[in-house]
Amino acid sequence: MPIYFQTRWLRVIVPTFVVLLVLAIGIAYLRTPQATLEKPPQDAPYRLSSSSIDVRIEDLLARMTLDEKIGQMALVEKNSVHDVDDIASYGIGAMLSGMGAKPEPNTPSGWLNMVGSFQRSALSSRLGIPLLYGADAIHGHSNVFGATMFPHMIGLGATRDADLVERVARATAEEMEATGIYWTYSPNLDLPRDIRWGRTYEAFTDDPTLAGELGAAYVRGTQGSGSSMNVIATAKHYLGIGAMQWGSSSNKNFKIDQGRTPSSTAALQEEYLPPYRAVVDAGVGSVMIGLNSWDGTWASYDKNLITGSLKGDLGFSGFVISDWYAVYEHSFTQYEGLVKSINAGVDMVMLPFDYKGFLMNMRLAVKTGDIPQARIDDAVRRILRAKFQAGLFERPLASESELSVIGSSEHHAIAREAVSKSLVLLKNDQDLLPLSPKMNHLRIAGSAADNVGRQSGAWTVEWRGIDGNWLEGGTSILQGIKNAVSSSTTVEYDREAKFVSAKRANVGIAIVGEKPYAEGWGDDANPSLAKEDLETIDRLRASCDRVIVVLVSGRPLMIADKINDWDALVEAWLPGSEGEGVADVLFGKQPFVGKLPLPWPASVKQLPISVDGKTKDGTKVLFPRGFGIHTEKR
Ligand code: GLC
Repeated sequence: MPIYFQTRWLRVIVPTFVVLLVLAIGIAYLRTPQATLEKPPQDAPYRLSSSSIDVRIEDLLARMTLDEKIGQMALVEKNSVHDVDDIASYGIGAMLSGMGAKPEPNTPSGWLNMVGSFQRSALSSRLGIPLLYGADAIHGHSNVFGATMFPHMIGLGATRDADLVERVARATAEEMEATGIYWTYSPNLDLPRDIRWGRTYEAFTDDPTLAGELGAAYVRGTQGSGSSMNVIATAKHYLGIGAMQWGSSSNKNFKIDQGRTPSSTAALQEEYLPPYRAVVDAGVGSVMIGLNSWDGTWASYDKNLITGSLKGDLGFSGFVISDWYAVYEHSFTQYEGLVKSINAGVDMVMLPFDYKGFLMNMRLAVKTGDIPQARIDDAVRRILRAKFQAGLFERPLASESELSVIGSSEHHAIAREAVSKSLVLLKNDQDLLPLSPKMNHLRIAGSAADNVGRQSGAWTVEWRGIDGNWLEGGTSILQGIKNAVSSSTTVEYDREAKFVSAKRANVGIAIVGEKPYAEGWGDDANPSLAKEDLETIDRLRASCDRVIVVLVSGRPLMIADKINDWDALVEAWLPGSEGEGVADVLFGKQPFVGKLPLPWPASVKQLPISVDGKTKDGTKVLFPRGFGIHTEKR
């Protein structure tokens, strides 16, 4: 026996080393894209806009290697692509700006150039399949400095105005297209049953019919009419998000976000599916699966919901994407999570980080048969269809000339109209509102009065928003009021209502409310006004004859024990950049027309509130869904 085998420990080390070496080579091989074949001719049918979309899909699919198909199913967050050439060599089909990931500088041309550089890499790949770049246009193209910040969806829900919602969506899509981004993660069809949830404001309403109407309008505005799509809309979060149970969150930092939705066939058929039926009928291009579990089954793994109900019963022919890291959240290995979610019907995986590991796992899953080739081909067909319908092959890049539409006066006018129509008048003793713009003496106070960051909320440049008056191009509510009154009106402002003059004012307006928050970070056991705000209101009451409270909040707040001390109460939701829209209704330039899009509980003991308005403890809500005092124009 050779000398080196004479030693016992070498007999173990050497074979182990060989096995590990082979394994390492194997993994490296699996994580590396294969050598590329030759490029197809310029007149290949899939390259020709004169070919039908079906012909283009089948021609392209037939040319694709397994790696190229897998690449189309990857959705990668832009900060995770460290070498822009990887987009071509891994055939990455989609990227996103998640959690506020933005270019430096964060300007419209900064976005155009960033997305353009990614796109040019994708176009240099063998097949030249354009990249689909997505962003959270939650209330306008709201990641971008200078974009029009529309009211958050709960305010749009209060307008109940489908035509207006369609125009807001169209304006948002125009601003996105100008930066070369042709995919948005809106509209949100969640149905908040428990307003302690930190994402209540992202939804239109808790009424399935209204959610469907406004969601379909949003899809029409975003995608345009007919089979083509200007910007691909994404209905989210499928399914039953908003109805999770308090305390059931799968995320240790949260209470209800990412929690458990109790399933029931009645709720499925009568509440949760109808809004999706409406947007599927409107031709929505994609659907995002939620970060919740449906009676214990993680939504991304639920084949009955995704393939059965959405693709089967509703006939959804677009593509299904998973949410942030969702496919890996609840599986022992990433491989297992991918197999479960892809086989459940997920077509594109918001990884959002490791595209090399994704390639390795997916190759293995197809080679072992854990994921059938037919499932891969179905997913890729759906993705390619959306890219062809969105005209990406013909118009993969935008140009600087389009950037002027961002923050345009036309869009600001639409936003101002949306703000005015979203405000809900909840109390108005002696018809105090609307005020006369010629009134003599007015005092303004409150944490949200001169605070465009607070009136815009989260998903505004930064994922979780920024409190304070920092947003260029926006108008605070205070500024809107100053612009609305006559030159003879005395307007005093102090954030804490600490006015020096002992002289009383006719009217005081306290503009108060919530600091920005996003997702589970906004889960709150008792959503209420901060002590600072309550003290400000008290000081204002001590120095003014009448007091109006304007709430800037993402949800109803617990005010039942305070409201009797206020002469008037207005819910302004999160109006965005156009503070003047608030002044328009306060001074009668526009009437109050808004109605509550969801019930306003008197206490958290009433939560959750069922779709027909029944509270958990059987007591009466403070204001029912649909409540709102209307006024006339002055
Ligand atoms: C988040 C949200 C989803 C958003 C996505 C991309 O986790 O759940 O609404 O579209 O990630 O930012």
